[in-house]
Amino acid sequence: MTQPTPTHHTTRAHSFNSAAAQYAANRPSYPTALLDAIEDLAGHPLTGARVADIGAGTGIATALLHARGADVIAVEPGDGMAEQFRHALPDVPIVRGDGNHLPLADASLDFLTYAQSWHWTDPAHSVPEALRVLRPGGALALWWNTGALDVPWIDAQTDRIQHHFGVDRVVRRNGDAAFAAVADTSGRLDFTHRRVRWSRHVFVDTHLANISSHSIFLVHGEESTAAFLAEERRHLLTAFPDGTIEETYDVELLVAIAP
Ligand SMILES: C[S@@+](CC[C@H](N)C(=O)[O-])C[C@H]1O[C@@H](n2cnc3c(N)ncnc32)[C@H](O)[C@@H]1O
Repeated sequence: MTQPTPTHHTTRAHSFNSAAAQYAANRPSYPTALLDAIEDLAGHPLTGARVADIGAGTGIATALLHARGADVIAVEPGDGMAEQFRHALPDVPIVRGDGNHLPLADASLDFLTYAQSWHWTDPAHSVPEALRVLRPGGALALWWNTGALDVPWIDAQTDRIQHHFGVDRVVRRNGDAAFAAVADTSGRLDFTHRRVRWSRHVFVDTHLANISSHSIFLVHGEESTAAFLAEERRHLLTAFPDGTIEETYDVELLVAIAP
């Protein structure tokens, strides 16, 4: 497994800002069953809870938490993503900041959520920050939509992406039971893991715009990405001649309770 340099990691962490509208329009959301699982593992409801959604991006997860009745505030470091967020969710507060330095008061939250964003933080800082802002008994919930690798076309496409772009350590985590160890190398948090499967039907163009909004594509150069997407379109239209595909996801969820 190749390890990205810190500079490359930072470049990728900020790459989404150049593609915020594409991200908002094409990335998948998360299923209702995920929110049920978060409440179940946390032992308390989201409705009426004080929640901060970190690395909120364009607001895909924040919108679900808000619709569930949570009193939610978003935290996002990126200009482009924050602008898109304000457009999508004008009534939900958003503050600028990141998971390593949370602009939030001590013991002020019932839930701290990271939807596909924890891996951009440095756990040496983000773990103590999470423990600082959560009230005792509050829950830290981290999750990632990952392609279901037991679905043959997804497995084959994942291989093609890894071959073309080099190994992506986030993609390589798919189905990996060692999620908790990766999330907190210090071992200070006691995570419970749950997997929630779901799917959506989309046109090939939406699917291609979805996958190409991932950071590995965004930092790789337009020409190389365009060549990959053209070839990928051919693969997909051979497998799905009517142009509609079913994207199947496993949401990998980790929840830890603050002592
Ligand atoms: C893959 S997007 C996820 C966005 C959103 N949560 C969702 O579910 O669609 C990752 C987000 O993490 C943000 N990010 C980058 N570095 C971060 C950090 N150190 N702490 C928190 N968020 C960060 C990026 O700006 C981006 O909006």
